[in-house]
Amino acid sequence: MSKPDTSNERKKQDFLNELIGRMTVEEKVGQLRLISIGPENPTEKVLKMIENSEVGAIFNTRTKNEIRKLQEKAVNSSSKKIPLFFAFDVVHGERTIFPIPLGLASSWDVSAIETVGRVSAFEATEDGLNLTWAPMLDVSRDPRWGRVSEGFGEDTYLTSELGRAMVLSLQGESLRGRHSLASTIKHFALYGAVEGGRDYNSVDMSLQRMFQEYFPPYQIGIESGAIGVMVALNTINGVPANSNQWLLKKILREDWKFSGLTVSDHGAIKELIEHGVADSPRDAVRISLQSGVNMSMSDEFFGKFIPDLIARKELKIEELDSACRSVLGIKYDMGLFEDPFVHVPEKPTESFETNSEERLHRKEAREVAAKTIVLLKNENQVLSIKKKTKLAVIGPLADSKRDIMGSWSAAGVAGQSVTVLEGLKNVSDSGIEILYSKGSNVIDDPKIIQFLNQYEFSVDLDEKSPDELLREAKKVAGKADLILAVLGESQAMANEASSRSEIRIPESQKRLLRELKKIGKPIILLLMNGRPLSLVEESEIADAILESWFSGTEGGNAIADVILGKVNPSGKLPMSFPRSEGQIPVYYNHLNTGRPYNEKNPDKYTSHYYDDKNGPLYPFGFGLSYSKFHVSDIEVSGEVLSLKKPILAKVEVKNVSGPPGETVVQLYIRDLTASISRPVLELKGFKKVFLNPGETKEISFEIQPKMLEFWNSEMNLISEKGKFKVFIGLDSLHLKEKEIYLEE
Ligand code: BGC
Repeated sequence: MSKPDTSNERKKQDFLNELIGRMTVEEKVGQLRLISIGPENPTEKVLKMIENSEVGAIFNTRTKNEIRKLQEKAVNSSSKKIPLFFAFDVVHGERTIFPIPLGLASSWDVSAIETVGRVSAFEATEDGLNLTWAPMLDVSRDPRWGRVSEGFGEDTYLTSELGRAMVLSLQGESLRGRHSLASTIKHFALYGAVEGGRDYNSVDMSLQRMFQEYFPPYQIGIESGAIGVMVALNTINGVPANSNQWLLKKILREDWKFSGLTVSDHGAIKELIEHGVADSPRDAVRISLQSGVNMSMSDEFFGKFIPDLIARKELKIEELDSACRSVLGIKYDMGLFEDPFVHVPEKPTESFETNSEERLHRKEAREVAAKTIVLLKNENQVLSIKKKTKLAVIGPLADSKRDIMGSWSAAGVAGQSVTVLEGLKNVSDSGIEILYSKGSNVIDDPKIIQFLNQYEFSVDLDEKSPDELLREAKKVAGKADLILAVLGESQAMANEASSRSEIRIPESQKRLLRELKKIGKPIILLLMNGRPLSLVEESEIADAILESWFSGTEGGNAIADVILGKVNPSGKLPMSFPRSEGQIPVYYNHLNTGRPYNEKNPDKYTSHYYDDKNGPLYPFGFGLSYSKFHVSDIEVSGEVLSLKKPILAKVEVKNVSGPPGETVVQLYIRDLTASISRPVLELKGFKKVFLNPGETKEISFEIQPKMLEFWNSEMNLISEKGKFKVFIGLDSLHLKEKEIYLEE
C-alpha cells in the first residue's frame, strides 16, 4: 500500500508544527501557490518568486535540469528553504504515450493499467517530476463531453477498479521511492456529469445517484492512497465545488478521512464570481479557502489577498495554517524534506537526451495498445488479414503522428509515434502490398478548424481540394483487393473544451466512406476517436469495424498486430455507443421504468422513442474476437445468500473456434425487490481469461452481500433481503442469468 505510514504520523505532525510555527503569513501563503511555468511565468521570473518564498509548487516544467535548478533555488535561497514539488499532467504516459484512458478502460485489464502506471511513473520521475494530475475518475455517460476520453467510461465499478490500479501503480510501494509519482485524482466531484455534455456546465444530481454511482471511484482512489484531489470546476446542486464545504470538508475529510492536498483547477478561484457566489476576487479567495481548497492552481489571487484577509481577521490564521499544513504534509509524505532532489539526484550530464529513443518503453506500449482495440463487427471474417492481398489504406488519420497520441499526451513527441500506415508497413510480410491515399480532410469546416487550432496546431486543411483528395483515393482503392478506411476524430476534437452536439464522423470523411463503398471492395473501418460515436450508417457500409481510440506511441504497430492477426482482439467497450444524439444519455445501468419497452411485443404506451430504438448501437462491455467463445449456464453454490454465507456463481467459458485469445467474463447483478427502484444491471465483477482453441475454463465469482448494498431514500447504505438476479456473459446484452435471494 502506498498510504502514508501511520506510525510516522506523530513525527510528521511534530515536524509540521515546528515548521509552521516559524513561518510568516506571507511564507505560508507562498506554499499555497501553484505556478505554471510558461510564457506568463518564464523561468527567470519564477526563480525570483521562489527566492521570495512566493511559490509552493511548480507545474508544466518537465525536464531534469530545469527542475534541478528550480529546486536548488528553493532549498538554497528561499527564507525557510522549503522544497517545491513539481507536477504535470501525466495522464496516459510521459515520454512513451499509451492509449487514452478511455482506450485503456477498453482493455478491462488491471495488469495493463499497472503497466501504464509503472512506466509513466518511471519516465516522469526520471524527468524529475513528483506528482501527476491523474487519474481522472469522473464517471461519464455523455459522449458529447470531450473529456470522456480522459476517463474510464460510464461504469462505477470499472472506473473504480482501474482507478485503484492506476493510483497504486503510479505511487508504488512508498511515496518516497525514487520512481514513485504521487497521484492527484480528479475532478472532485461529478465533472463527468455536466449537463448536456457541455464542458464546465452545471451538475444537478440526486444524492442516491451521487453516492451510488459517481462517488465510489473517488473514494476508492483515496483509499488507495492518492495524495491529492483536484477540485472540479462545476457546481453540484447549485454549489460550486470550490465553495462547497459539504463536499470538501464533510465528505472528503470527515467521512472519507482524506488527509492529503486539495488543489483547485485552472482559474477556478475567480470563477466563483461567474458562478455568482463571490462578489470579488478577494471574496472568492476567502470563500474557497474556507470551503476547503488548499492550493490555488496558476494562482493569481491567493498571494494578493490572503495576507490582508488575515490582517483584517476575515480569515482565521488557523484556516491558513490548515491549508499550509496540507501542502507541507504531502511534501513530507513524498520525502522531499529529507531529500528535495529525490527525483533529480544528480545534474543531468551533457549526454543526457530528454527525448532519446532509449528512454521509451515501446514494447509495453505496443502490448497494452493491442489490448485496448475493440472489434465491433467482422462480417465474413474479413479480419484478420491472412492471405496475400493488396490493401488500400485510406483516410486522413491513417498517417497522422500527432493524432494517434491523443489529447493530454504529456511530454510525448509526435515524431516518435507510429502511424497506422507505418505500423502496417512494419508488421506485414511481403505477401501484403500496401497502398495509401489520404482521401479527405479530417473535417472541412474552416470555422471548426480555426477553433481546434486555437492553442495547438492540430487540424490541417490539405492544399488539394476535397474533390481531388477523393479522386486520388478512389483511384488507389480501385487497385486494391481490400480497403482499410482510417476515420474518426482528430485528437483535438476529443479533449478539454471540445464538446460536440453531433457525435458523428465529420461529413468530409463520411463522404469518403460512401464513395469507397461504391468501388465494391470489402471495407474495414478503423476508427480513431476519443468518445463513443454514432455509427449507424458506417456500421451498414463497413464489413468490419475496429475501434482503436487514440492508441499512443506504438499505436500503429499494435493496430497492425490486430489487423494481421498477430494479436486476437479482446477489448470491450467501457461506454455505450448511442445510435443518435437524441438518445443521449444511453447507459447500460438505467432503471427499468414502470413501462419498459419490449421490442418483441411493442406497445405505444411504453417508454421509448417512436423514431429510433431505445438501446445503443454497441452496448457497454461489447467487443468481438477472432475466436468464438461460448458461456455455459450459471451454476450457483446455493440460492440463498447471507452475511455468513456468500454464494459462488460459476460458468464455463470455451474457445469454440478460432485462434488462441482472451475475453472478458462480466458479472452483473440486479435487485428485483428493493425499497427503491434499482438499475436493470450493475457490473460487480469481471475477469479477463485466456483460452487456447477448444479450451474450456471455469470462471467463478463470489457473490458477497456487500455487492448488493445501495443507498436508500434515507441515504443509508444498506442491503435489503429479497430477490436478485445474477448475470454472467461477455457483454451487457448477452447474458446468462440466475435468481438468488438475500436473507437477513
Ligand atoms: C484541467 C485539469 C488539468 C489542469 C492542469 C485544467 O484545464 O481541467 O484536468 O489537470 O488543467 O493542466
